[in-house]
Amino acid sequence: YPKAFIYDLDGIITDTAEYHFLAWQKMAEELGIHIDRTFNERLKGIGRMESLQLILSLDPSASNLSVDEKEQLALKKNEYYLEMIERMGPKDILPGIEELLHANKQHGIRIALGSASKNAKHVLDLLGLTAEFDYIVDASTVKKGKPDPETFTAAADALNVPYSECIGIEDSAAGLEAINSANMFSVAVGDKAHLPNADYLVAATNELKFEEIINQYNQKKA
Ligand code: G6P
Ligand code: MG
Repeated sequence: YPKAFIYDLDGIITDTAEYHFLAWQKMAEELGIHIDRTFNERLKGIGRMESLQLILSLDPSASNLSVDEKEQLALKKNEYYLEMIERMGPKDILPGIEELLHANKQHGIRIALGSASKNAKHVLDLLGLTAEFDYIVDASTVKKGKPDPETFTAAADALNVPYSECIGIEDSAAGLEAINSANMFSVAVGDKAHLPNADYLVAATNELKFEEIINQYNQKKA
């Protein structure tokens, strides 16, 4: 068995990836910038200011915004986001995740979070999952965000587990790249077009079955 599972948060443990998108879209529309779900794939997994920068780069007239104005925009997006997730609770944990966490526990496998979000702890609290995690990496922990491997290696280092014995789970291209460059076994949730390089790809979280993930992990090792 591997020694640790490192979970991405948004889009894996709960569907906050959707709220991040809707909040960015609302903020962008107010500037006359249109973003769609295809564009949003590039926003998944990357930090707040990097996301804003990518959105603003769609509109040449946004290039003269000051640092202060950009911070205001990011703040506004976050307020929309917090409003959208206000009523979230344990019922919003995505299908298959609680079973997977439970299987990890049963087999003595450590559990970590590897998130780029400043809201990660708040979201875990809303879901009632904070106590399940042995270690939490969020935006405040890492210097280099995804696709840099640091989010995942920092979790493994804190748990004192070799990277080759970790499994990372992601829904974003940037996060998948981070797991792969950390030399961990990568499990991706989504479609092949956006996530071409996963060691093991499933379409949705309800397909994340512990025994099958372990099978795939051991096959790669063999
Ligand atoms: C994760 C999500 C992104 C989000 C980023 C920053 O990477 O996948 O969609 O923009 O975290 O989140 P924050 O809550 O700090 O704005
Ligand atoms: Mg994600």
